Amino acid sequence: MRIILLGAPGSGKGTQAEKIVNHYKIPHISTGDLLRAEVAADTDLGRKAKAIMDGGGLVSDDIVLGMIAKRLEDDSYAEGFMLDGFPRTLSQAQSLDAMLTQLGQPVDIVIFFDVDYGEIMQRLLARKRADDTEETIRKRLEVYEAQTAPLIDYYKAKGNLRTVQGAGEVDAIAQHIFQILDEVR
Ligand code: AP5
Ligand code: MG
Repeated sequence: MRIILLGAPGSGKGTQAEKIVNHYKIPHISTGDLLRAEVAADTDLGRKAKAIMDGGGLVSDDIVLGMIAKRLEDDSYAEGFMLDGFPRTLSQAQSLDAMLTQLGQPVDIVIFFDVDYGEIMQRLLARKRADDTEETIRKRLEVYEAQTAPLIDYYKAKGNLRTVQGAGEVDAIAQHIFQILDEVR
């Protein structure tokens, strides 16, 4: 199964990814987690990414696409995978399509987490990650609205987008996602 988790910052992608990983034993690729690991290891890439992430902007497509390509070409992802926080721009989505067409592994389903921005602000202000200040959260939401939200229509047009209400009990949301994934499995 090849899954994309799509949604605003704080919509619950990472939280539900963990549930999906436990349930389906599917490898999880979070570009945010990969970038934070580079920052923590103080690599060249991490140093380039840090200021952008702290400001709530998007790291350049070539950095992110390079990280994704490296993994998707690895055999351990041949049976399926779940992408979280990627793609995030139309050009990333198009590059992903090209990569997966070449590998003969099209995306099966895109789960879109629908959560209102008021709830997101509350959740993220309560969390305290480095990019969870009020100003950075606002910027991340603006960037999401301008660059990532158009992917909802992009995947709707392809016919593989399913919307999940992302507010409510974490386990109830997970059960809803499992139902959807069981249909496409
Ligand atoms: P990334 O790490 O992807 O962050 P994000 O998209 O801003 O989203 P979050 O991880 O904050 O939220 P989430 O949807 O995973 O929600 P979570 O489950 O954590 O990206 C960080 C940065 O890296 C970007 O800003 C960018 O700079 C860069 N980057 C990453 N990918 C990139 C790409 N492809 N291209 C370019 N740049 C890229 O939940 C949030 C909180 O809510 C948690 O505290 C959680 O406990 C809580 N919560 C979750 N579910 C519920 C619920 N149902 N009820 C109540 N609380 C809940
Ligand atoms: Mg996340």
